[in-house]
Amino acid sequence: ADPTLVARARAAKEKLGDSVFILGHHYQRDEVIQFADVTGDSFKLAREAAARPDAPYIVFCGVHFMAESADILTNDGQQVILPDLAAGCSMADMATYDQVEECWDVLTDAGIADVTVPVSYMNSSADIKAFTGRHNGTICTSSNAKRALEWAFEQGEKVLFMPDQHLGRNTAVLEMGFSLDDCVVYNPHKPGGGVTPDQLRAAKMILWRGHCSVHGRFGLDSVEDVRNRIPGVNVLVHPECKHEVVTAADYVGSTEYIIKALDAAAPGSAWAIGTELNLVRRLANAHPDKQVVFLDKTVCFCSTMNRIDLPHLVWALESLVDGKVVNRIQVDPDTQKFANQALNQMLALP
Ligand code: 13P
Ligand code: SF4
Repeated sequence: ADPTLVARARAAKEKLGDSVFILGHHYQRDEVIQFADVTGDSFKLAREAAARPDAPYIVFCGVHFMAESADILTNDGQQVILPDLAAGCSMADMATYDQVEECWDVLTDAGIADVTVPVSYMNSSADIKAFTGRHNGTICTSSNAKRALEWAFEQGEKVLFMPDQHLGRNTAVLEMGFSLDDCVVYNPHKPGGGVTPDQLRAAKMILWRGHCSVHGRFGLDSVEDVRNRIPGVNVLVHPECKHEVVTAADYVGSTEYIIKALDAAAPGSAWAIGTELNLVRRLANAHPDKQVVFLDKTVCFCSTMNRIDLPHLVWALESLVDGKVVNRIQVDPDTQKFANQALNQMLALP
């Protein structure tokens, strides 16, 4: 990282003291993550944001939906800043409010809306979270998807899982005993979701047709290839990977789970990790006594996570020093109210 920018970021942070709290997701660049007061997966960061009521400024080094969640979970006196507004998430963009409303109409026409509980992945817009709250559902993250689904199936007979079909399918099938036939995929780009009312009525899990462009790149061939290259390798992947990849892997879990698994791994063991490359590189550096490789041969950063770079962080911090709040993420009060309901339902999961 540019040493001048490092020095400027350090100086600005020092001047701001306790008035600023910097949250950093595990997929952030090294040059940025070094300035985070706390690092975590999306669940941990949501809880950390909620646990900092005294910090007037929260600088969120992550993507847009995470900053929105932080705004929802913090109090009115706090302002959340996303250093680059272009740091979105292609998966979250795969479910718009209008599409979800239309889907609910399709479920209503099929006669199943009143027995369906929406479960929305954290990786969704505040609008979708509010929809979920209005319909008495819950948010989940990759570290509590099973608990969220267990809760949802206590409330109703079916789940509408949005927007990541893979997390929904992997959790239901690999962790909860559902079969692939219990799942149906709703495609928002096709009339009626591209499924018949009978298929919807027969399904337990209605999966939104969304995916992560980063984790979607790992294929079964990536797993087979690494097993051939490194005999005895442990394959550890994020649950946003495709079902066949997760099935072929040895372990599956959120970014926080992946970090803990590596901490607990025996010296000399070999690990192929199927998640974002910034995190995998950091893990490889942190564990020189273990062999840690990226699951695929091709480079796989999350381009939007990478939008938050040191120049943007310095700009956000120096602006605060000058008394200016830039790139504030602010969710409107009505959306906030219902999204908060769904987020709090998640935080209350056993
Ligand atoms: P985590 O829930 O593991 O933080 O993942 C968030 C994310 O964006 C994964 O692609
Ligand atoms: Fe979104 Fe995938 Fe990037 Fe996570 S890794 S922020 S799900 S695009």
